[in-house]
Amino acid sequence: MFSKEIRKGIYWVGATDWEIRNFHGYLTQSGTSYNAYLIVDEKIVLVDTVKAELCEQMIERITRIIDPSKIDYILSNHVEMDHSGSIGKVLELAPNAEIVTNPQGVQGLKRHFKKDWKFKVVKSGDSLELGKHQLHFVQTPMVHWPDSMVTYLPGENILFSNDAFGQHIASSERFDSEIGWDIVHQEAKKYYANIVLPFGNQVKKALDSLSSLDIDLICPSHGLIWKDYIPQIISEYCRWSDNEADDRAVIVYDTMWKSTKKMANEFCYGLKEAGIHVVMRDLKSNDISDVMTDVLNSKCIIVGSPTLNNNMLPTVGAFLTYLKGLNPQKRIGVAFGSYGWGGQSIGQIEDVMKELKWELPFEIVKMKYVPDDEELLKIREIGKSLGEKMLEDKRQKEK
Ligand code: FEO
Repeated sequence: MFSKEIRKGIYWVGATDWEIRNFHGYLTQSGTSYNAYLIVDEKIVLVDTVKAELCEQMIERITRIIDPSKIDYILSNHVEMDHSGSIGKVLELAPNAEIVTNPQGVQGLKRHFKKDWKFKVVKSGDSLELGKHQLHFVQTPMVHWPDSMVTYLPGENILFSNDAFGQHIASSERFDSEIGWDIVHQEAKKYYANIVLPFGNQVKKALDSLSSLDIDLICPSHGLIWKDYIPQIISEYCRWSDNEADDRAVIVYDTMWKSTKKMANEFCYGLKEAGIHVVMRDLKSNDISDVMTDVLNSKCIIVGSPTLNNNMLPTVGAFLTYLKGLNPQKRIGVAFGSYGWGGQSIGQIEDVMKELKWELPFEIVKMKYVPDDEELLKIREIGKSLGEKMLEDKRQKEK
């Protein structure tokens, strides 16, 4: 188990989770890592820990650098157990270590672990002397939980950002450019879409608080360290937190006897005719966490379901429940589907879009049983008009 010295006396000592494929419902095709960092100064600090099951990896890495009993502080930037799960085991080895966290962190850690640990309570603006280095704390509530905090190390210009700027990637590399922008950006996008998206306003506040800092490294608690693509990822976080999307469309649907699928195809042809990039996401073959990456990218979200027992299909219901929680804003929506007699599903889909306050430029599109050629052509025309509207909106915005 090798650690990685990222700056003199500062090490990555986290754990790589090559096997995980489901992170509380998020499909992690590339695995993940839980990043912990060790700062060796007159005082020794462990910045966050790792998921309990992988604690041995971290301890082995630390042991190759120092005797773990010498750890003075365990910095807990975030209570969630993928980062706090090994605090208890570290304290068994370093019983005199203090846990540095904010008031919400103390509450959360007490509720999780029911232990009477020694806490050093900090808040935004506080700092902690380590010797040559000093830690500065900035609370970033709701990025990702109320206790979330980032820690800045001036001089080295390192931001320990915890969940912010994370990506679920297991890798033997540690820095962004070692695996390249395309991969790290794609995974950062999926991570934002599935974890950070509901907290756009809080992300904006956090970005404001950090804007005056010189940052040479962003060390998140998952995935690769940002070193060569820092301006790019900060610019993406600004766009995503403003709910800015590309002029693209995603068609999300499920189908029973292929009528709804035929309708989805026609929307796709029409949008393409107008010159809009469009992707089709059948919910039988796409995981909703991947579909959310398309939602983050796309200005236009078209959702279809046939009606089954007066309702939408369960796959579409699950997607919409997830979507509602993640709360993407400033989107254009259209609901569609085929039906036999009730046809309630299509209105139910539109109701979710209304709750999200999306723009709904067209009536819901319902077709009884199997659409005929004329009806399919009508859907294609709606798709084309939708695409033309998107391009016109873009022109107006650019004026
Ligand atoms: Fe990676 Fe909110 O925990």
